[in-house]
This record gives sequence, C-alpha cells and structure tokens, in this order.
Amino acid sequence: MNFPSSLKVFTLNNGIRIPVIGLGVYQMPDGDRTQQAIDRALKSGYRLIDTASIYHNETSVGRAVRSSLIPREQVFITTKLWNADQGYDQALRAFEKSLTNLQMDYVDLFLIHWPVQGKRKDSWRALEKIYDEGRCKAIGVSNYMKNHLEELLSYANVKPAVNQIELHPYLFHERADIINLCRQTEIIPMAYSPLTRGTRLNDGVLVKLAKRYEKTTAQLLLRWGIQQGFTVIPKSAIHSRIEENIDVFDFEISATDMEKLNDLSQGYVTGWNPSGLP
Ligand SMILES: NC(=O)c1ccc[n+]([C@@H]2O[C@H](COP(=O)([O-])OP(=O)(O)OC[C@H]3O[C@@H](n4cnc5c(N)ncnc54)[C@H](OP(=O)(O)O)[C@@H]3O)[C@@H](O)[C@H]2O)c1
Repeated sequence: MNFPSSLKVFTLNNGIRIPVIGLGVYQMPDGDRTQQAIDRALKSGYRLIDTASIYHNETSVGRAVRSSLIPREQVFITTKLWNADQGYDQALRAFEKSLTNLQMDYVDLFLIHWPVQGKRKDSWRALEKIYDEGRCKAIGVSNYMKNHLEELLSYANVKPAVNQIELHPYLFHERADIINLCRQTEIIPMAYSPLTRGTRLNDGVLVKLAKRYEKTTAQLLLRWGIQQGFTVIPKSAIHSRIEENIDVFDFEISATDMEKLNDLSQGYVTGWNPSGLP
C-alpha cells in the first residue's frame, strides 16, 4: 500500500501497513458535512478513516473516498461489528452490510467493537473466515481488556492485528496490563479518544509543555500516542482542526517529557469502561 511519504506507518503483525494517525468519525452524521470533513482530511494527508456500523456514516465514508479520486488501495478503512450483530451468521451478514454501505469490495481492518460475552468466540470465527477469503486485510478487536484478549488468544487461528481502546496520558498507567499484553503479542494498540474528547486540552501541565514545543495541546497528545507506538484516531469535523491534528511529524517529545505525560495518569475514562466486563 502506498501512502504519502510524509505519513508515518506501523506494520501490523501480518505485514499490512497502517498509518499511525487517522480520522475518527464517531458522532459525525451521514451527509455532506461529514463527507466534506473526510475530504478535507484526505486532502491534508490522512489515509486512515475509522468508522463503525453503529456510527451510521459508512455511506459518507465510502462517498468521500470515491470522490477524492485517491486509489482505493491507498486509503485504509476500518469499520466495526456492532454488539447486536455478534454471532457467526449475524457477523457475516453485518460485514456484507458494511461493504454495501461503503460501496467497497473489501475493508482494511474489521474489528469486533465490544467483547460481548457468549457471542465473541463465534464472531471471531466469522472474522477469520472473512479474513481468509481476503475480504479484509486485517482483523482485530476493540475494548478488549486483558481477560478478553487472553481468552481470544487461547482459541484464535488468526491473531488479532489491533486492539482499539481508549488511551491518552490521563488513562495510561491504569491500562499498563493490556498495553503490555498487546506489545508482547505484537498487537498494535489503537488509541481512541486520544484527545480526551477535548476535555483536558486546557490542563496546565499540557499547556506548559505544548508551549515549549511550540505546538498545541492536541498535537502534544497525539504525538505522545504515536511515540508510545499507538495508532491515534482523533475526531474533528472542523477543517482547521483536522489539519492541526495531522501536523505532528515535525517534533519529538523528549524521554523526560514522555514520563511527565505518562504521570498525568488518573484512570480517566471519557466513554464506557470495558474494565470489569466478563
Ligand atoms: N472503539 C470504540 O469503542 C470507540 C469509542 C470512542 C471513540 N472511538 C473512535 O475514536 C475516535 C476519536 O475519539 P472521540 O471522538 O471519542 O474523541 P477525541 O478524538 O479524543 O476528541 C474529539 C473531540 O475533540 C474536539 N477536537 C478535535 N480536535 C481538536 C483540536 N485540535 N482542538 C480542540 N478540540 C479538538 C472535537 O470537536 P470538533 O469535532 O468540534 O473539532 C471533539 O469534540 C472516534 O471518532 C471513533 O472513531 C472508538
């Protein structure tokens, strides 16, 4: 897969390359505004779009990619299997529906959105079948904590390539066990809500550090995630912010400052917390 040379990539455990940053499109309604935001992202150098069937905007994602005229194989599309669609047959059907919405014949990464008890093993079998048929380039999970991932690794024929979980400096040490397990097993952590949904961008420590690097606090958070080895998927519908968020390749956070950021950890979960799910 060819990406712009300015865009850094990680290599997944099956050899597929994934951009280290992408546009998240949660809470962006299907329609022109979302299509324009994705168009702006593609023009700014993004090549990864993170959607999900439950976001109800796969149609806009597909339209934006097609109208950009960027060859399909140069854009990395992630979508996810929603909880109500878990189970073997249901998952196969849901995947077809996502392809229809996207108007694509494959996706790059298909994830189980949440670890639904009693269903997730059958769902994984369906993802393995889709992967074996070559209709997605990689498969993975989301919101899997250590117990869920260990269970999956005990029966998986295809190892997940990615685990998408909430990660930022305010939720880091508390996630050490799942991050370490991912690292040991060569599963890339994909950091969702990497900007804390905007709620910590005025934190004094961040503001001070960001000034020193002459970057914004959003850029500092995203750079922190990338230097941790996470793929980051910030969401914005505002064109200037979309551009700001990908402008993170011209500076490097020092080891000391990485530690300072790590120590902002306070178990801050902005969304739903999968810890404790059986
Ligand atoms: N797998 C899962 O269960 C799961 C859960 C949550 C999220 N996700 C994925 O992760 C993506 C990102 O997470 P998220 O949407 O929860 O939160 P986020 O990316 O941490 O933050 C998004 C918020 O920050 C604002 N923002 C973006 N850039 C900014 C900037 N440069 N300066 C100031 N504010 C800025 C956005 O507002 P504007 O749009 O107004 O700019 C929005 O309110 C989602 O879109 C989705 O793709 C996955």
